[in-house]
Amino acid sequence: MNFEIPPGLTDLLQDFTVAVLRERPPELVQFAVDYFNKLNESKNADKYQKRGGVRFVDSPVAASPLPIEPMQTDDEDDDEPMAPPPSRFRRKSVSAERYDPEADEELGEEDKLVYPKSDVQRQRLGEAVKDILLFRSLEPEQMQEVLDAMFEKQAEPDEHIIDQGDDGDNFYVIDSGKYDIYVLIEGKSTLVGNYDNKGSFGELALMYNMPRAATIVATAPGTLWALDRSTFRRIVLKSAFLKRKMYENLLENVPMLKSLNAYERMNVADALHSVTFQDGDIIIRQGDNADCMFFLQEGDVRFTVRNDANEEKEVNRCTTGGYFGELALVTHKPRAATAHSVGTTKVAVLAVDAFERLMGPCMDIMSRNIDEYEEQLVQVFGSKANITDLR
Ligand code: CMP
Ligand code: CMP
Repeated sequence: MNFEIPPGLTDLLQDFTVAVLRERPPELVQFAVDYFNKLNESKNADKYQKRGGVRFVDSPVAASPLPIEPMQTDDEDDDEPMAPPPSRFRRKSVSAERYDPEADEELGEEDKLVYPKSDVQRQRLGEAVKDILLFRSLEPEQMQEVLDAMFEKQAEPDEHIIDQGDDGDNFYVIDSGKYDIYVLIEGKSTLVGNYDNKGSFGELALMYNMPRAATIVATAPGTLWALDRSTFRRIVLKSAFLKRKMYENLLENVPMLKSLNAYERMNVADALHSVTFQDGDIIIRQGDNADCMFFLQEGDVRFTVRNDANEEKEVNRCTTGGYFGELALVTHKPRAATAHSVGTTKVAVLAVDAFERLMGPCMDIMSRNIDEYEEQLVQVFGSKANITDLR
């Protein structure tokens, strides 16, 4: 017998499966009934019918497009999280493809957008974007084009700046104001973090051509700078995308970072830059003040420690995929060892401000290293005498 698969069936079932995997409903059959009823009521049922082969990600059950779990922030406690206030209507529609930076036609030259700004606005905008990591690798003229294209948007308390599941329209940089972040977890809108007068959001949907992964609600009056999707993709996307991709493998293979979720790891990737050292170069000098930590991308590093009796000995080694220079950032003490490049090494540098912002969930693991370092020192120097306390 010859079976013909009706157009749209594969996509329909695939989206349903994704919804099940994301929502993990306790009652599968009931979930299916609700899912297909909602789908039937929405305009999309039609689209599956008419245009098989196109993947509509706008499933009736809002879902996160990436394997993103909530950000861990200080705000998390056992209290019942508040649902965000009801959202105003937003268009939900299709988004079919993922980004392929090598084959993106959207990146061609188009009309440049220029929103005229007063001197005061320019100055405020300059302040707001100065720490935006996604803009760091832009050339000066690209930066100018981005600044020209940004426009001011006032945010009112309770206003939904972004709704999870919507299409991505703008990328936002915070000038002022406070904003809560909600993510649907097991069907429930859950407060997972907030922005307080700085930062940026809304890049994921634009970068990956996926629906919005979180809902962002203003909790106080504020001002945002918005950058339209097309300018973001044309100018910011390629460098930001390639950078994330470049560091993704490195970070995925660092066991300590397993305690970060995918979104948090992306933020770490955005914050890194690479530096190369030659054989014998000193990467860290014992006793110096610390302003960064390192992930070892290529090569080997050896560590020496000079004890209080002025004897210097090799205490440890680090190989590709390892990290170092975290200790002084955890203990707020000077560097505890000297790190030497063995052959040519390439390191990814994480500055202290990003470390403090992003590495909170890994603090326990890093603190536990101290016991191991102490043991190494005792073993190498033969006793605890003459060893400076690492804590
Ligand atoms: P985007 O998906 O375009 O829109 C919602 C934004 O919320 C998202 O981009 C991120 O910039 C931001 N965001 C903050 N925290 C999270 C999180 N835990 N998961 C997903 N997105 C988040
Ligand atoms: P930090 O003190 O910031 O700078 C030197 C780094 O050497 C330190 O962080 C550790 O990451 C690393 N290191 C490796 N082995 C040891 C050790 N046995 N004692 C102290 N630091 C060590």
